[in-house]
Amino acid sequence: MGVHLLSPPPFLRLFLFSFITLCLIPQHALAGITRHYKFEIKLQNVTRLCHTKSIITVNGQFPGPRIIAREGDQLLIKVVNHVQNNISIHWHGIRQLRSGWADGPAYVTQCPIQTGNSYVYNFTITGQRGTLFWHAHISWLRSTIYGPLIILPKRGVPYPFTKPYKEVPIIFGEWWNADPEVIISQALQTGGGPNVSDAYTINGLPGPLYNCSTKDAFKLKVRPGKTYLLRLINAALNDELFFSIANHTLKVVEADAVYVKPFETRTILIAPGQTTNSNQLSSMILHRSLWCPNRASRNKNFLIVIEVRLT
Ligand SMILES: *[C@@H]1O[C@H](CO)[C@@H](O)[C@H](O)[C@H]1NC(C)=O
Ligand SMILES: *[C@@H]1O[C@H](CO)[C@@H](O)[C@H](O)[C@H]1NC(C)=O
Ligand SMILES: *[C@@H]1O[C@H](CO)[C@@H](O)[C@H](O)[C@H]1NC(C)=O
Ligand SMILES: *[C@@H]1O[C@H](CO)[C@@H](O)[C@H](O)[C@H]1NC(C)=O
Ligand SMILES: *[C@@H]1O[C@H](CO)[C@@H](O)[C@H](O)[C@H]1NC(C)=O
Ligand SMILES: *[C@@H]1O[C@H](CO)[C@@H](O)[C@H](O)[C@H]1NC(C)=O
Repeated sequence: MGVHLLSPPPFLRLFLFSFITLCLIPQHALAGITRHYKFEIKLQNVTRLCHTKSIITVNGQFPGPRIIAREGDQLLIKVVNHVQNNISIHWHGIRQLRSGWADGPAYVTQCPIQTGNSYVYNFTITGQRGTLFWHAHISWLRSTIYGPLIILPKRGVPYPFTKPYKEVPIIFGEWWNADPEVIISQALQTGGGPNVSDAYTINGLPGPLYNCSTKDAFKLKVRPGKTYLLRLINAALNDELFFSIANHTLKVVEADAVYVKPFETRTILIAPGQTTNSNQLSSMILHRSLWCPNRASRNKNFLIVIEVRLT
């Protein structure tokens, strides 16, 4: 009889185990929700560096719309192709556990979505949280078709670092005055390197260091003493970029949807999403503001810089 006290019969053990498990796991952490997005691939006239041209966009936006989900959520993204080009979209950095057909590289995991057709990408975000991005994955259409993919922790789970006052995606890209599809096809014909872009962009804007671009600068108004989470994404075609903010220190808290042991730096190197096996495809940066609290230092402008350095 004493044996039963120490070791309950199997059905009771199972019951006790389930009961204890259910009590330990909060309900909200059990399952994610399904989030629906619709991506209309269409042309949009955009002007940069005094050149107006028709570019291929998602929903007419450049850069494209943000996808925001929580770890554990299922995403259903319907992509409808209204342009003459074939298209496919890659969810860069998503592990795609048992959902390889949703990965996106054209002719690798799917045939491209042809003119007038659509495709629903269906995947669940498992064991990842932080900043990733999505982009076109055929030819060079990724030069204009890209946007942030933000994965928040599960509901009720805090960040393992200071709660930011605000979160801001900062997505780097490149702008060509010419048609990027012509640039890449010329490069493939000659075997030479593709022509370098006319500008690097932050959130689609070249900034004041280029000709005819003063008004096309990304400006972030910040409050002194507050902490901002900058979600940095390198969506440039092939270039590794260096990022810094004048007179500020950055604290890196995450890279490629994995939290890292935080470290501080003045400049970070961020490689293009296109490079495989890089652990710096995209990073989430906790920017600890070093703005002085005295009045004299307020209303100053600090330059946010991205640049290519020959290494
Ligand atoms: C872009 O501009 C051209 C010339 O003004 C115009 O014909 C065309 O309809 C515009 N395209 C879009 C998508 O607005
Ligand atoms: C578009 O995709 C279809 C199916 O893969 C292919 O037959 C066709 O040649 C492609 N068109 C272009 C312009 O690449
Ligand atoms: C998405 O994928 C899941 C898992 O394979 C499947 O159960 C579900 O039916 C799919 N949903 C749609 C709308 O395709
Ligand atoms: C690329 O650069 C070469 C050399 O400057 C130029 O002749 C060519 O027109 C450029 N291609 C495009 C598409 O602008
Ligand atoms: C801006 O234009 C001037 C005059 O055309 C030229 O000399 C200069 O190199 C240009 N600067 C940049 C950054 O393109
Ligand atoms: C940044 O620091 C340098 C040297 O410490 C100083 O000369 C410059 O004025 C500072 N810039 C701003 C915007 O405060």
